[in-house]
Amino acid sequence: MPEEKNAAAGTASPRHIAIIMDGNGRWATQRGLPRTAGHKVGAENLLKIAYYCKDVVGVKYLTVYAFSTENWKRATEEVNVIMLLLDHYLHEFIEVMARDHFRICFFGDLSKLSPKLKKIAARTDEVSNALPKDYCRLNLCINYGGRDEILRAARKYAADCAQGIRTPEELDEHLFSTYLDSDEVPDPELIIRPSGELRLSNFLLWQCAYSEFYFTDTLWPDFTTDEIDRAIASYAKRNRRFGGVK
Ligand code: FPP
Repeated sequence: MPEEKNAAAGTASPRHIAIIMDGNGRWATQRGLPRTAGHKVGAENLLKIAYYCKDVVGVKYLTVYAFSTENWKRATEEVNVIMLLLDHYLHEFIEVMARDHFRICFFGDLSKLSPKLKKIAARTDEVSNALPKDYCRLNLCINYGGRDEILRAARKYAADCAQGIRTPEELDEHLFSTYLDSDEVPDPELIIRPSGELRLSNFLLWQCAYSEFYFTDTLWPDFTTDEIDRAIASYAKRNRRFGGVK
């Protein structure tokens, strides 16, 4: 693996970057193309950015928002194309994960996906679980919503209490976080949102408590590795106090 570019930055270098891949639709519309064309270029761009984050920046976790719990409201054709893209790339990822030293995991409620997509997601999990844990982990958020994730965790915890496995009194932040999709994943130090929108859109609501944010007007299909460098340079200048005083 190439030397980590930000090794000199020490603790300033984020271990976990999360990205809201926004702006695909506008990118396509601006070019007189159907919105789905933007998703195709956006998916291809994810590959480029993911390899750069892993090989050059040296991040250990990259989490990307691919499809939210609210995205089902979109036209059937657009939803179908995003699902087809996921299916296509998961097949591709399975082939290269071991060679390229990364693991693919999922955040979100996959039970709502088609049987075909569920099957390839399960196969992806199987392959990832057999790979070394220190490989860079790409978390794909599919049918994901931060509120839904918290609700699902609360339901699981309540069910464990009902079965006598847990008690309400022992619940603390650490224990609760083990019930989230992000169990075993440190909170993202840096969350990036392209496309000029200044909101979280239900992304990583629990995990973002002390994340730093980087917003840019660039639309996701145009988002380059230079933009990642700019985001990291901006992050490196932040004074992170976590509620304390420095
Ligand atoms: C947001 O842009 C993007 C999405 C809702 C879908 C993102 C999906 C992909 C990039 C493909 C997923 C594939 C893989 C391999 C993970 P938008 O459509 O909301 O853009 P707009 O705000 O300009 O309309």
